[in-house]
Amino acid sequence: MYTFIDKGGKSITLRPEFTAAIVRLLIEKKLQAPIKLFSIGPAFRYERPQKGRQRQFHQINFEVFGIEDPKADIELISLAQHLLTEFGINKNVKLEINSLGDSETITQYREALISYLKKFQNDLSEDSQNRLIKNPLRILDSKDKTDKEIISDAPKISDYYTKESSYFFDQVLNGLQALGIPYTVNSKLVRGLDYYCHTVFEFVTEDLGAQGAVFAGGRYDNLVSSVGGKHTPAIGFAGGIERIMELINYAEKKERPIYIIPIGGEAEEHALTLASELRRNGLYVIYEYSGTLKTRMKKANQANAKVVLIFGDEELSSKTLKIKNMDTGEEKMIARDKTVENI
Ligand code: HAM
Repeated sequence: MYTFIDKGGKSITLRPEFTAAIVRLLIEKKLQAPIKLFSIGPAFRYERPQKGRQRQFHQINFEVFGIEDPKADIELISLAQHLLTEFGINKNVKLEINSLGDSETITQYREALISYLKKFQNDLSEDSQNRLIKNPLRILDSKDKTDKEIISDAPKISDYYTKESSYFFDQVLNGLQALGIPYTVNSKLVRGLDYYCHTVFEFVTEDLGAQGAVFAGGRYDNLVSSVGGKHTPAIGFAGGIERIMELINYAEKKERPIYIIPIGGEAEEHALTLASELRRNGLYVIYEYSGTLKTRMKKANQANAKVVLIFGDEELSSKTLKIKNMDTGEEKMIARDKTVENI
């Protein structure tokens, strides 16, 4: 928590996430469920800053209240997948999913895990020793080498699922399969916040270093009632905007550009039309507004362009283009309306 004393001597804690505040809103404003809510804004956590982890960051946040049906889980995960595709960063991001089961599952599993971990209490890292009392499930998340070895033989939550929990999780997984959303079941995925039950998930990548989660969330059917509201099943997820931005930059850098070089006034006029046509087809295009053929070729090289498209007045009138493959140096004339197919 990011907590400090303000000038008036009051203890202030900055919002660490949206879910708890939205639950309060739901209760205080007596919002009628089922309801779907979206929010966006800054959040604050007093953690050790590192790549992908800031003390002030921003989230997009989605919550669905009042739907018990696993279809809500499937729809929400599919929304997250859709967003990744729209942002153009779906390639290196993988969905990891787990189920924490219902309250009975969690209670029994917690007991089994504590009694297993107690045998290794003195070997656990300091963080994990503290968590053994406060939130033992989080020890499964530990990055410490010895902790990891101990955890590898720990009891598995799936052995503690009630019949209802197994059935619920199967429905979620079948729904994802039907939508063609690939996933990996990670039985160690428990999430840092302790309000979850049933479905928990993270969209993770290796392109961000140690802080790999881009979107993360899960079901929390008991949170609303535990803070004074009526029983309201709920599920949601949040995405870190800074991490999304970093991935978009990374994806663009990895993709090699198409470099457009017009020669002469009319060709220069036409270049933007060509650039936007190629961009509409999802291509990464660089068109700089001026420069000689030689300097532009040099820049295309520096930008690691995949191909260069060169055209002057003659090519404009014959509706053709010269395409140069920057790896092989091969050049050929192509029909202007077959540009995308030739790239
Ligand atoms: P969370 O996993 O704590 O979940 O955070 C969600 C996302 O926010 C992370 O996957 C990450 O992209 C981003 N994020 C978290 N902490 C930082 C940080 N220090 N710096 C940069 N980005 C960060 C939640 O916040 C839950 N409230 C999600 C949820 C909504 N569950 C149900 N509904």
